[in-house]
Amino acid sequence: MNTVIVGAQWGDEGKGKIIDILAQTADYVVRYQGGSNAGHTVVTNGHEFIFHLIPSGILHKGKICCIGNGVTIDPAALLEEIERLAKAKIGVARRLKISCLAHVIMPYHKVLDELREAKRTHKIGTTRRGIGPCYSDKINRCGIRMIDLLNAKVLRNKLKDNLLEKNEIFKKVYQYPGFVFEALYRDYLQYGRKLSSYICNTALVINRAVEAKKKILFEGAQGTFLDIDFGTYPYVTSSSAISGGSCIGTGVAPVKIDKVVGVAKAYTTRVGEGPFPTEFGAAFGKLIREKGAEFGATTGRPRRCGWIDLLMLKEAILLNGISELALTKLDVLDGLKTINLAVAYRYKGTLLKEFPQDSEALWKAKPVYKQMQGWSKTISDTKDYAQLPPRARDYVSYLEDALKTEISIISVGSSREKTIYR
Ligand code: IMP
Repeated sequence: MNTVIVGAQWGDEGKGKIIDILAQTADYVVRYQGGSNAGHTVVTNGHEFIFHLIPSGILHKGKICCIGNGVTIDPAALLEEIERLAKAKIGVARRLKISCLAHVIMPYHKVLDELREAKRTHKIGTTRRGIGPCYSDKINRCGIRMIDLLNAKVLRNKLKDNLLEKNEIFKKVYQYPGFVFEALYRDYLQYGRKLSSYICNTALVINRAVEAKKKILFEGAQGTFLDIDFGTYPYVTSSSAISGGSCIGTGVAPVKIDKVVGVAKAYTTRVGEGPFPTEFGAAFGKLIREKGAEFGATTGRPRRCGWIDLLMLKEAILLNGISELALTKLDVLDGLKTINLAVAYRYKGTLLKEFPQDSEALWKAKPVYKQMQGWSKTISDTKDYAQLPPRARDYVSYLEDALKTEISIISVGSSREKTIYR
């Protein structure tokens, strides 16, 4: 069984925890896009682990974790993650596989990310991890790939060519001094040496595992509405976060994917700029942010919070082929008198029932809410669906009916144990 896990909103849906749970019965966990802009937090046995690049499945003994060709890798960040795991006595030797085709994030990508954001009037609010500039180089055919770090001559030629053009741009457009070849060349050759035992043809590794009927989990980063094509462009990330990205980002054919599980929060959050029709007002937003600890795992930025949006979820189900949902952070809604769910938008006098493609509509649309009664009980110790307060069950059932999709997992707290299976 090969399953893709995707975020159904703007990222931070709690995929890390769901992947951690599903990884228990998987053989391989594979990342297919994004880079160290992602941040999964997993709490296990009182330890908190934050992953940016390595699939969180690495916490389970014997699981093979792959970083696919669709991921952009900051080698320094990756080495740091490996070292942190080593300190917690979690070894990755022979279990971590890095695609030789994955593109490398260079210091000039990070600096360019910063400088472009600073210059923009309409900021995207990127994580400043160099993601956009690195994917741009990939498409521009001047990117440096992991395999290049293992070949001094190739690295030298590519880096020289890149700096020739980029240093001019840095100086002339951004009044930034640029980068010195020798220092970068030396550092990146060294990264290559340190990571060489992990770098391989992951497409071959994963496809062989598929042939051997191993169970594979494809771990999406970010979320559907941050997808470069289908997200709220230009307020998106630079990769294909939807389930289709799992094929391009790993070299596994679409016919080999059996199932897509979507992860959605019981409300909605977004970090960075961009339209957000169901966003709460400042005071209520602060309350939910604090209750839900809604601060970015990568940048620590406060997340914007809002009600759940069924137009978004329907669109996510369609785009990803989601057949099952995991609903996270239901406990954060404990104690609310009423809960709103956006079921349509009103825009220029018309009622929209589909998520609009027109960005102006998204900025200006007013959500039409269905209001449901909240529950007063604390649900974070609930193990069984039947023990949830009736109004919490009503909320879940309403979502299932409206979305025509089963909610198979409900998360009521950050640790593995705080999960209801149905
Ligand atoms: P970038 O991916 O750093 O270029 O950032 C582009 C947009 O995606 C910004 O709004 C970021 O806040 C958002 N973003 C990137 N990665 C994540 C993530 O893992 N969770 C939530 N938002 C993200």
